[in-house]
Amino acid sequence: MLRNLWSLCVLLSLVTLVPALENGLARTPPMGWLAWERFRCNTDCKNDPDNCISDRLFRTMTDIVVAEGYAAVGYDYINVDDCWLEKERDSNGQLVPDRERFPYGMKSLSDYVHSKGLKFGIYEDYGNYTCAGYPGILGYLDVDAATFASWDVDYVKLDGCYSHPIDMDRGYPEFGFHLNQTGKHMIYSCSWPVYQIYAGMKPNYTAIAEHCNLWRNFDDIQDSWASVESIIDYYGNNQDVIVPIAGPGHWNDPDMLIIGNFGLSYEQSKTQMAIWAILAAPLLMSVDLRTIRPEYKAILQNKKIIAVDQDLLGIQGRRIYKVSDLKAKVSVPQHKGIEIWARPITPVYQTYYSYAIAFVNRRTDGTPSDVSVTLKELGLQYPGGYRVEDLYEDVDYGVLTPQTKIKVKVNPSGVVILRCNLNIDDVFRYTPYSPFNQVFKVRQNSFE
Ligand SMILES: *[C@@H]1O[C@H](CO)[C@@H](O)[C@H](O)[C@H]1NC(C)=O
Ligand SMILES: *[C@@H]1O[C@H](CO)[C@@H](O)[C@H](O)[C@H]1NC(C)=O
Ligand SMILES: *[C@@H]1O[C@H](CO)[C@@H](O)[C@H](O)[C@H]1NC(C)=O
Repeated sequence: MLRNLWSLCVLLSLVTLVPALENGLARTPPMGWLAWERFRCNTDCKNDPDNCISDRLFRTMTDIVVAEGYAAVGYDYINVDDCWLEKERDSNGQLVPDRERFPYGMKSLSDYVHSKGLKFGIYEDYGNYTCAGYPGILGYLDVDAATFASWDVDYVKLDGCYSHPIDMDRGYPEFGFHLNQTGKHMIYSCSWPVYQIYAGMKPNYTAIAEHCNLWRNFDDIQDSWASVESIIDYYGNNQDVIVPIAGPGHWNDPDMLIIGNFGLSYEQSKTQMAIWAILAAPLLMSVDLRTIRPEYKAILQNKKIIAVDQDLLGIQGRRIYKVSDLKAKVSVPQHKGIEIWARPITPVYQTYYSYAIAFVNRRTDGTPSDVSVTLKELGLQYPGGYRVEDLYEDVDYGVLTPQTKIKVKVNPSGVVILRCNLNIDDVFRYTPYSPFNQVFKVRQNSFE
């Protein structure tokens, strides 16, 4: 009996084992602040000292991340992007940070970030140049990995400009090998699939998940709702390929959070945060934390939504209903324009999951849309019911059965996101005695 159970366990573990980069990092999607989307390649410290890519900008953001409560809710990486380098390597072939903008060097900046209890990320490119034309790592993979380790870097984003996408199947693992050989644990963020997709290739996601902690699948995000919508659509339209690849240690990266910048309304900002949480996305804010308005800061610091993003199961969510899904199982024909997204989360009981559910209104004709569905129609079938709570509004729906109709109002280009926790406390407290539902007794028996 025991022997059979053992073989069953071995079999199950073989079936469910996704080979992945096991450097122990990014067990949940990384969170932090990343310069690129907001600050770009501004190198003009003479005329724009407060906003240029410089030591000062990163130290300032480090201070604010700690002082203003971002670190306390989980944002713990401070990540440099492109444009930190001198245009030439030194005589030993080593990378040199811009001498005017980073006068103390990267080790000093890294030490500063660490002294505040945060982690330090850096940017390079698997090509002859970075996207902005600074030296890339081609020809220097081992040297650069060692340099990053010597600077105590915790996270490396490796872009893919000025390289041949066909070389990436070899090149990204090769640089990962050199990172590993340094002995310093570093999160490895890859742009491997997106450049291959642009080149008309089909990325080998099995290999990508084996070698990278996260990877970009699609376009760079820009400061507009159109850009956010195109990303949401990409992840929905390609979910059958993309979703199964994500899990603890290896994540799809739909790019930075642009909440608090110029392009998104309040509603659209809430939508980006909610959908990124459903997608188990890295939460990398790219915003000027010195001037962000309080209502946008509140979105970025929404602990309930962050908890969905950081759920320990690490299962990426899916779009389960979309406007033009004529054959969709969920019937909400009177609610054209509504999309529904769902992500399985903890707690789990038997074969049932809890869920985060996001209703997104893609309409722009300025009045809120009503949606009314039963939990069962959304695939939530646990007979004991769910404790349902709205994660933006302080609304507690109490315990709902799968048959209960739930009604929400979704603002144009806005979202309603609910957390539906299995109502399992009550199973243990209220299930009447029966020899057939004694889960603990059954478990004991199987070892006898
Ligand atoms: C990088 O530069 C080398 C040396 O000039 C050249 O041989 C190689 O083709 C370049 N690689 C790419 C991807 O452009
Ligand atoms: C290097 O790879 C091995 C094997 O996957 C892993 O156990 C180890 O933690 C890695 N070390 C670093 C520094 O990434
Ligand atoms: C994809 O990568 C995996 C793991 O590296 C490898 O076993 C497999 O053969 C590759 N598939 C293709 C189609 O190249």
